[in-house]
Amino acid sequence: MAEVSLPFESKYWPYKKYSEMYNRSLRDPESFWDKEARKLDWFKTWDTVLDWQPPFARWFVGGKLNACYQCVDRHIKTWRRSKVAIYWESELGESRILSYSTLYRAVNKFASVLKNLGVGKGDKVALYLPMIPELPISMLACSRIGAIHTVIFSGFSAQALADRLNDTQAKLLVTVDAGFRRGKPLKLKEIVEEAISLSPSIEKTIVIRRAGIAVEMKSGRDFWLHDLLAKAAPFVPPEPVESNHPLYILYTSGTTGKPKGIVHSTGGYCVFNHSMYQWVFDIKEESVYWCTADVGWVTGHSSIVYAPLIHGAAQVLYEGTPDYPAVDRYWDIIEKYGVTIFYTSPTAIRMLMRYGEEPVKKHDLSSLEVLGSVGEAINPEAWLWYYKNIGGERCPIVDTWWQTETGGIMISPTPGIECVPLKPGSVTFPLPGIAADIVGEGGQPVPPGEKGYLVIKAPWPGMLMGIHQDPQRYQESYWSKFPGMFYTGDYAIRDNDGYFWILGRADEVLKIAGHRIGTIEIEDAAVSHPAVAEAAVASKPDPIKGQSLVIFAILKQGVSPSPELNKEIKEHIRHTIGPVAIPDEIYFIAKLPKTRSGKIMRRVLRAVASDASVGDLSTLEDEASVEEVKRAYEELKREV
Ligand code: WT7
Repeated sequence: MAEVSLPFESKYWPYKKYSEMYNRSLRDPESFWDKEARKLDWFKTWDTVLDWQPPFARWFVGGKLNACYQCVDRHIKTWRRSKVAIYWESELGESRILSYSTLYRAVNKFASVLKNLGVGKGDKVALYLPMIPELPISMLACSRIGAIHTVIFSGFSAQALADRLNDTQAKLLVTVDAGFRRGKPLKLKEIVEEAISLSPSIEKTIVIRRAGIAVEMKSGRDFWLHDLLAKAAPFVPPEPVESNHPLYILYTSGTTGKPKGIVHSTGGYCVFNHSMYQWVFDIKEESVYWCTADVGWVTGHSSIVYAPLIHGAAQVLYEGTPDYPAVDRYWDIIEKYGVTIFYTSPTAIRMLMRYGEEPVKKHDLSSLEVLGSVGEAINPEAWLWYYKNIGGERCPIVDTWWQTETGGIMISPTPGIECVPLKPGSVTFPLPGIAADIVGEGGQPVPPGEKGYLVIKAPWPGMLMGIHQDPQRYQESYWSKFPGMFYTGDYAIRDNDGYFWILGRADEVLKIAGHRIGTIEIEDAAVSHPAVAEAAVASKPDPIKGQSLVIFAILKQGVSPSPELNKEIKEHIRHTIGPVAIPDEIYFIAKLPKTRSGKIMRRVLRAVASDASVGDLSTLEDEASVEEVKRAYEELKREV
């Protein structure tokens, strides 16, 4: 194992409780995680804590458990059976409240529905659903019977959905007639219809009635959930699976056009998420927890479904967006349910900050105890606003750094252990068990104050098991840049006090409003428009979304740029990937700045788009292209 430079070896390290625990965890990870794992309910104890055959880690080998059992069965044996599990809140304020007992019943029935349709252990089930209770219910039903769920974010288009279905080869898909987005129905069944025509593996669909609109149902292929539930059994025994049985596959963007199917385990993942929730959020029996993420992303998997439910917490599940129907929607919900732990994104904070303090002051937010931030760096201004106006200067902000691949939180303040002094904009220190470090190009640790690559130098239980059906890509993406270290793709820096600061992506992945988007995926989508010959994606700083998406496009010969074409290409990208990938601006140019070996110099595009210095251009093939890019950009600025 590569050596870690421990942050607390510095003279600035006064945090005894945390540092003792952190030291212990790295000195003897196996006995540390062995103890943590015993906090869950296992059907059979493991034979080996960790089997590390780089780059593949297998945790709690030989142990048997069931993730759904951790989330519901173990609570209904206690007083928690009548405790609230989910306060579901619709966009317009309708609520549905599920206790652990009703959740248990719903999950069992759904599991029976799946079984009756022939789904069994190891089968893959695709879930394309909005934020309704049936989303966590169907995930838990899958894990109950040992099926592997793959949730596809409901903002993805038919093509993006089909690509993911084709990769997993799922046979069954669960969806709704339509969800709601800002009062309008988002017709998911219609999108599914188009996707299925491109993904032959899907044999059956289950359709949940949410909006009550008329949809096309193909007899023998499409089934209404309410019809199936009428014939479902009330109890399905939880399937004991080996700890390394995959719990789910979740797609995320990488540096090629093809999304990566990240595979997570059952045992390691559950143990890790259980522990990190204790440390980061200080979750207590009486907590009322709310994470505003969509279950379609990893945040929703770990921070809405598995971690809070394993803890038996009460949580809010909200269907809608932060500013609909009014800009105080979030504050209204916090007051309505007396939320104590609130976990959201910097983009949401920055967006709500724009409306000033009035909408906040209308509500009693005194129940709040801990605030969280995730998905992108939070700028100090937003941090301070959040701290002062939402947390009333009494709630620590846990700025949590993690990734789809890490399965759970890796670097964050830990009020559940000991709250270190916070610095606005810093994610502070790695969690116990996380051998995080910052290294230079050659893999050597960089001194404080120097920018480097964030790496993890030892396996941790929430670590991905691999990329679905692509071990080679797994090895290349994460373990090749620095041998023996997990490469995160992020730049980071440590200050003189040992605090970590995340500086953004070092690879060709963008973070737009916290969403992770691969530049190549968008370029592929742009080029698939008949008028576009070549396209390069860059980003520029955005006051709300952190970064906004810009495309530099070269049109095919004979095609002239026009505002209509601009709109058409945007629409085409929306249709190919989904609304998250719509570029904010498209610049039409005649040449792209490329290196002599033909690689697009994104750094130059980024610099031009954000009005920064273009820096060293010695590897540039054709200097005129930079002028060209600048000119197009200037013209567009004039038009706006
Ligand atoms: C990337 C991972 C974590 C779940 C949601 C995103 C960025 C994440 C932070 C943070 C600065 C952050 C990184 C990371 N990121 N959290 N607290 N501060 N940047 O998961 O979609 O896999 O994206 O999000 O760039 O690599 P994801």
